[in-house]
Amino acid sequence: MSRLRFFPLLFALVFVPVLAGAVTTFEIFEASTLNQVVKRNKLIVGMEVKFFPFEYSDTRGEPVGVDVDLARLAAKELGVEIEIKDMEFSGLIPALQGGKIDMIISGMTRTLARAKTVTFTKPYFETGLCALVSNKKAPDLTRVSQLNDPRRVIAVKLGTTGDIVASKLFPKARLNRYKEETACVLDVVAGRADAFFYDQLSIAKHHRQNPGTTHAILKPFTYEPYAIAIRSGDFVFLNWLNQFLETIKADGRYERLHHEYFGDLPQREKTRDPD
Ligand code: ARG
Repeated sequence: MSRLRFFPLLFALVFVPVLAGAVTTFEIFEASTLNQVVKRNKLIVGMEVKFFPFEYSDTRGEPVGVDVDLARLAAKELGVEIEIKDMEFSGLIPALQGGKIDMIISGMTRTLARAKTVTFTKPYFETGLCALVSNKKAPDLTRVSQLNDPRRVIAVKLGTTGDIVASKLFPKARLNRYKEETACVLDVVAGRADAFFYDQLSIAKHHRQNPGTTHAILKPFTYEPYAIAIRSGDFVFLNWLNQFLETIKADGRYERLHHEYFGDLPQREKTRDPD
């Protein structure tokens, strides 16, 4: 068979797109994080390892939690090593954009605002913001709407949805913005702030640890779906990650993980409290 017979096909598939400056599907795959991760034999995951029970340190200082296990499972399925880069929450998106990490998995809520700069997978967990309330400064506070008042102070962790939502929905209140979650809790315990807005399981934990000085509003007042974030527009990697999440949900691995971390939590924290 003459090679010339294939020439028109070759011309159409390779030379025409190249001459036209078009990007081929091969080039798209080559440039994807998925391909880079497999080539370098390592998945680099960014998270702030201070968010129980999604990422926190065990007694030996090793990162553990739902997100840590999810990241390990993803690396295992990719057949590569894993490196976890622990960094401040507000620095995660810049680190992703700067190419320092391949993905973020850090209890990060998929919001429309964030989705303008990064691409999110399908959600792997759904929760909402709740409030840890000071018994000293706000003993009678029972509804978050009471906080939209110039005499009220809301503590929030910088760059989190608690921070974003507080400024948007509670414009009359004063905000105390801290880098550390613990500083927010301390503000409430000491009565400097009326409340601290954060994700449900964190608020439940802080209330459990400070039963005398705080009370909690454990009915979420926002919808917070957690998702993995990757660089904007990397649909090759996005497709793999969504398929990964779908697979572990279908084969029971996600459920086992869920059970391991949420199984022994008191029922109250798994359901929404009545008003
Ligand atoms: N879900 C919240 C957000 O996306 C808080 C996440 C905090 N995660 C962490 N690892 N500190 O803003």
